[in-house]
Amino acid sequence: MTSSIKISPSILSADFSKLGEEITSLDKAGADYIHVDVMDGHFVPNLTIGPEVIKKLRPFTKKVFDVHLMISPVDQYIEAYSKAGADIITFHPEATEDTSKTINLIKKLKKKVGISLKPESSIDLIKDHLSKIDLILIMSVEPGFGGQKFMPKVLDKLKNIAKIVSEKKLNIDIEIDGGINFENCRLAKEAGANVLVSGSTIFKENKGDLKKNIGILRSN
Ligand code: DX5
Ligand code: ZN
Repeated sequence: MTSSIKISPSILSADFSKLGEEITSLDKAGADYIHVDVMDGHFVPNLTIGPEVIKKLRPFTKKVFDVHLMISPVDQYIEAYSKAGADIITFHPEATEDTSKTINLIKKLKKKVGISLKPESSIDLIKDHLSKIDLILIMSVEPGFGGQKFMPKVLDKLKNIAKIVSEKKLNIDIEIDGGINFENCRLAKEAGANVLVSGSTIFKENKGDLKKNIGILRSN
């Protein structure tokens, strides 16, 4: 399955005092998805935004809200993020007792299902669920903060999962998230990622020229 590369800028690196405007700027700069990092200070040692904020951000773009839930427990919050306007709801199997149950909760709400794996987590956690999901998020940093260094060791895992997805002819986005920059984005694509998340590279490089930075990640 040849998919064109999609860019999903992470608003974790945006100016939180004007998130609505920042999202509209990302939309105009050519973002395919908007990556919204939700953190609860429990599953990860950081706290960001909840469903009420996402609801307020929804009108600022029609682009896909690619919502990355770094929260545990997760099941009781799925409906709130769905109602807030999430299009893809991605959770961590490490954060729930029953991965199938969480997948079904998201599907019942007619949202796309993503599963995210921390760098140390094995693809064994998701292998039995591939036919039911729409996106796999391979973390290339420890979840919790933007601006961390890319961990190249996850590229083997990315290659393995991309091979399985291709062999089974599944229509699944393979997204990589964490420390993606102009140098390593080519490695991520060659390993099989078709969606690149980036926060600090997009917001900080080239004096924050969003359009230029999104373009470089897409074409490098
Ligand atoms: C980290 C988040 C990532 C992060 C990416 O827990 O899931 O999405 O914001 O930011 P950069 O691209 O700066 O690593
Ligand atoms: Zn993320």
